[in-house]
Amino acid sequence: MTDNRPIGIYDSGLGGLTVWREVRRALPRESLLYLGDGKNCPYGSRTKEEIRLLADAAVGRLVEKGCKMVVVACNTATAAAIDFLRDKYHEIPIVGMEPAVKPACLNTRTGVVGVLATERSLDGDLFCRTAARYGKGIEVIAVPGRGFVELVESDREQTPEAEECVRRAMREMLDRGADQIVLGCTHYPFLMEALRKVSAGSGARIIDPSPAVARRVVSLLKSADAFADKAQKPFYEFDTFADEAYRQRLRKKAEKALE
Ligand code: DGL
Repeated sequence: MTDNRPIGIYDSGLGGLTVWREVRRALPRESLLYLGDGKNCPYGSRTKEEIRLLADAAVGRLVEKGCKMVVVACNTATAAAIDFLRDKYHEIPIVGMEPAVKPACLNTRTGVVGVLATERSLDGDLFCRTAARYGKGIEVIAVPGRGFVELVESDREQTPEAEECVRRAMREMLDRGADQIVLGCTHYPFLMEALRKVSAGSGARIIDPSPAVARRVVSLLKSADAFADKAQKPFYEFDTFADEAYRQRLRKKAEKALE
């Protein structure tokens, strides 16, 4: 069997494009429908209830548009709403983001792991449970990436200001010898250059979970026998709750992310 319907990918804004890129690379025949809210971004310091309403509206729109699966490419929305979304939209698989704390804890040699994520992700059950489960005997230093999302949303990733912001957030974990640093927000890989620069020489490995999410999408489609037809020419669409200018920005940033 084949299924030519698109895969929906949703984030509060531009960040989920780091997941979109990996899904597109892993599944070049699949059509992708990306919804970057944009109007209500950032989500990171909103209440769980607010985020759940926003995520419901977004996933509802993707389901209405006929997606065969939705990837919630937003750690914050996953933390606040994944169970609710899976329950409400049970007719299709909903894939969420998982903080890569497990591989980090398994691979650390110094016994110190750093986690960068939004405030709401860090105080969510998902992160607390994962950290408690895999972080036994390991020092897990979790720090919110203050200002990171705003930098990415305004295309200021390659500025001295971005480097300073990243330096501030990473200081404690690097000082304490973290050798694994987990990016727990899909916006953060856009700051990879600054993250690498600031951690250069420390030997720390920076973990972007998006390739693992793309592998999960592949495996779900495989087990459901729901890949798109080999002859199908994929389409890539961008949608938003903001305005047309933001929709164009999503498209441009997506193209740039593939370079
Ligand atoms: N990109 C999102 C995440 O993975 C949300 C960032 C935000 O809107 O604060 O958490």
